[in-house]
Amino acid sequence: MAYQAIRVEKLTPVIGAEVRGVDLAQPLDERTFKEIHEALTENQVIFFRDQHLTVEQHKAFGRLFGELVVHPAAPAELQAHPEILVIHADETSKHVAGENWHTDVSCDPTPPMGSILYMHELPPVGGDTLFASMYAAYEALSTPMKRLLEGLTARHDGEHVYRGRYGVKDEGKVFPKAEHPVIRTHPVSGRKALYVNYGFTTRIVQLARPESDALLQFLYRHVETPEFQCRFRWQVNSVAFWDNRCVQHHAMWDYYPQRRHGHRVTIKGDTPFYRA
Ligand code: SIN
Repeated sequence: MAYQAIRVEKLTPVIGAEVRGVDLAQPLDERTFKEIHEALTENQVIFFRDQHLTVEQHKAFGRLFGELVVHPAAPAELQAHPEILVIHADETSKHVAGENWHTDVSCDPTPPMGSILYMHELPPVGGDTLFASMYAAYEALSTPMKRLLEGLTARHDGEHVYRGRYGVKDEGKVFPKAEHPVIRTHPVSGRKALYVNYGFTTRIVQLARPESDALLQFLYRHVETPEFQCRFRWQVNSVAFWDNRCVQHHAMWDYYPQRRHGHRVTIKGDTPFYRA
């Protein structure tokens, strides 16, 4: 697409682009909104530098793309803004959000369409985020493997990820679980994407347990292929907007005991489907 309202500079031929020439704190005109949406569809994850957003402006930008969802397990740290997921690490942290390859909340029957992370504080070095294209992961598979996977569904479970994770009482709490196609068709681009992830996927339903375990291990290693990835080096006031329907990400925790702090909003998605 020829962009007129924004400038789009690709990070790699496969995934990721920096978007320039837009102030996300201002209301966006129709053309700018459409071009940002197109840049996301084309590049799967897009990045903005030097943004100065209040919590309300961050939420307003997210709402242009859909309803915001509240995280099913993390406590709301900003009382008046339950839609804000605080991403924080410091010298007391035992783990950080997203430290393994995952798709956000894929355990939900309608997993998020996208997430928008705005970073306020960063370590002097480190704390990058890696993003991997699940289109590229699908497309690199052999034809017989694609055929096998296209008929399968997998269970995604929040229980082992969220139980006890946030240091709040969660007895009796039921975390989401869902069954999704192993290959999903993106509702906007029509492209096919691999849709299992190390974080949440526990079982391929139609296979015996040892077969499922072996195939999932292979697919998790496949997802990590460097050619499917881009790596984003944050600066204070950077924003990343990724499409959870076709991207996995991994937050590097290589900066302990330094601090890293930001806010994320998460946009409601739809039920994953496979269309040949
Ligand atoms: C996440 O949303 O999974 C965390 C990403 C990050 O901190 O870079």
